Amino acid sequence: MKQQPRALFITGADGGLGFALVEEFLRYDIHVFAGFYRSETGISDHRRVTPVDLDVSKPDSIRSAATAVARETESLDILVNNAGVHLEDKRVPLEELDLADGHLERSMAVNAFGPLRVIQAFLPLLENGRSRRIVNITSEAGSIGACRRDREFAYSMSKSAANMATRLLNNYLGPRGFGVLAVHPGWIRSGMGGPEADLSPAEAAARVAGIILGPFPEDGTIYLDQNGNSLPW
Ligand SMILES: NC(=O)c1ccc[n+]([C@@H]2O[C@H](COP(=O)([O-])OP(=O)(O)OC[C@H]3O[C@@H](n4cnc5c(N)ncnc54)[C@H](OP(=O)(O)O)[C@@H]3O)[C@@H](O)[C@H]2O)c1
Repeated sequence: MKQQPRALFITGADGGLGFALVEEFLRYDIHVFAGFYRSETGISDHRRVTPVDLDVSKPDSIRSAATAVARETESLDILVNNAGVHLEDKRVPLEELDLADGHLERSMAVNAFGPLRVIQAFLPLLENGRSRRIVNITSEAGSIGACRRDREFAYSMSKSAANMATRLLNNYLGPRGFGVLAVHPGWIRSGMGGPEADLSPAEAAARVAGIILGPFPEDGTIYLDQNGNSLPW
């Protein structure tokens, strides 16, 4: 990045990767506007963290969050769409799924439509920024080309949709100087990833922050994993 970012906004900062990313960003001289879904944590006492209430599934909440941030700053350099849900029991096959339990709709609302709505609401602040970066934390689960799963429909389909949003937005906003990435953060020992996962939230956050703050790929890659490797759509 040519210039050090001054301020960014991140969703889903309550725990897991989001919380660890906030800690990571604080190692740099960056002001973090942190979207908290349920509860502010101790980190919101930090002088360079401004807590913002945010439910990314609710358009009113997103508008209020953008208004609250715009009261504090005229510009944001980076937006990180990190909030996400994985609502399904990974072991349940198609025949046993209750497709009326709301998980499909909720997953799309949080994982796919949420980031798009957040980007639209925060775009004026990002246009005033000096980095013009948007990073959507999606997942390898959203890759159709590399798909080996035979279940986890709601999560995987919602992450594929978020990947498509990334492509569309990169096409649309690229000519205005924006870079838009979809990043798989690795398998993380968070509430979502579970205790058997490969990476601690801090390890994943260090790698993902390196991508967010480092030079974006110049070869056209916009869907990548936590190590910077290109993923198949
Ligand atoms: N863990 C993995 O192995 C893994 C792998 C690939 C991709 N990812 C992606 O990485 C991102 C972070 O996941 P994680 O592992 O840190 O999971 P996590 O610990 O469950 O964290 C998800 C965060 O999103 C918040 N959230 C949930 N619903 C929300 C809503 N409607 N509005 C705003 N925030 C909401 C959660 O808040 P509460 O805690 O208060 O519910 C939490 O802070 C997600 O997008 C996930 O899909 C994770």
